[in-house]
Amino acid sequence: MHVGIIGCGNISETYFNCQNIYNNFTVISCADLDIDIAKKSAEKFNVKAQSVEDLLSNSDIDLIINLTVPSAHKEVIINSLKAGKHCFSEKPLAMNFDEGKEIYELSKQKNLYIGCAPDTFLGAAGQKARQLLENDEIGEVVLGTFNIMSHGMEDWHPNPDFFFKPGAGPVFDLGVYYLTQLINLIGPIKSISSISGTATPERIITSQPRSGEKIKVETPTTLMGTLEFYNNAKIQFFCSWDVWKHKHSEIELYGLGGSMIIPDPNFFSGNILVSKKEKDWQVVNNDKMLLGNPNTLDNNNTEVANYRGIGLSDMIDSIQNSRTPRCNIDLSLHVLEVMEGILIGAENKKIYNLKSTCNQPKILLEEDIKKILFI
Ligand SMILES: NC(=O)c1ccc[n+]([C@@H]2O[C@H](COP(=O)([O-])OP(=O)(O)OC[C@H]3O[C@@H](n4cnc5c(N)ncnc54)[C@H](O)[C@@H]3O)[C@@H](O)[C@H]2O)c1
Repeated sequence: MHVGIIGCGNISETYFNCQNIYNNFTVISCADLDIDIAKKSAEKFNVKAQSVEDLLSNSDIDLIINLTVPSAHKEVIINSLKAGKHCFSEKPLAMNFDEGKEIYELSKQKNLYIGCAPDTFLGAAGQKARQLLENDEIGEVVLGTFNIMSHGMEDWHPNPDFFFKPGAGPVFDLGVYYLTQLINLIGPIKSISSISGTATPERIITSQPRSGEKIKVETPTTLMGTLEFYNNAKIQFFCSWDVWKHKHSEIELYGLGGSMIIPDPNFFSGNILVSKKEKDWQVVNNDKMLLGNPNTLDNNNTEVANYRGIGLSDMIDSIQNSRTPRCNIDLSLHVLEVMEGILIGAENKKIYNLKSTCNQPKILLEEDIKKILFI
């Protein structure tokens, strides 16, 4: 399938590169509000640079990859649908549930597919954990925790402003990975109770090239609370960009027959720890799985698995085979409502009951991956 990229910022290189991992799409064109940025990417990756309007009306393109900032997601997705094209978007699907519903309605009306990141839950760690749960390794999951704590994004991203505006913050920006992983593992969420806080009203950029500039914080930088799932599991969460250091694990699940610790769902692999009742932890490594095999170096020169693009490639395969993609609109709309519900519940100091739901995405087997992998 021929695809076009809209938004040529920080994450775009990952998407240009992933056409070398998956075998069912080719990027032929790119666009950005800033045409110079689009031209630079076009030159680097040997594709055409177009204006956003020209790319949307390019009849050689069947699908748009939306890599713009969160506040532009809805507009780009809606315009893609109006242009008769499928769209795979970076997260979050939109700024709020109402925008998400608008996208949902139009995609059904146009009979076009919408998919949305994150797709990291399709990685080796997420799929291995899912298999372990389905094999009843720790029994029915009844309780759990997830923790995202750091001191924010202003020390590494060249343009970190959007992280502190509505549509981002620790839940919309990172919680999205954890919520999607948990729905993959134990199903949809029924209700939320939450509180929020903002430790400082301004952040000072320490990354280059804008070091020293101030950012006004316009969305809470700490959110804490509890999620109740349809299977009655209760998961406590702590999402904050106001913490310098901590020693919590990312995700812990407690079942009737044991416990499981799951690695950071922003990544594709990492050891899982499983213990049966009070027995010692057993390490479950998944580096030998297709989407766990290290294929790149991170900022610390450590080999890591990064297979971003699997959600897009799976969606293209699903379009070609008339099936539901794993990163489907029901899942991303539900996750969007959960994220907004955490903020609304905290603001209103009331339990937020979800209106949306979704199915657990279908498990991704190694044989499914082999069909769409180049290597
Ligand atoms: N940077 C990361 O590591 C990372 C990782 C995962 C997901 N994401 C997600 O990817 C998206 C983009 O992140 P980023 O870090 O690349 O941001 P960025 O600010 O580096 O790039 C965004 C680009 O989109 C362009 N843009 C904005 N509005 C537009 C519009 N209406 N039409 C066309 N172009 C437009 C901007 O000019 C900019 O070049 C965000 O939703 C983010 O949550 C980023």
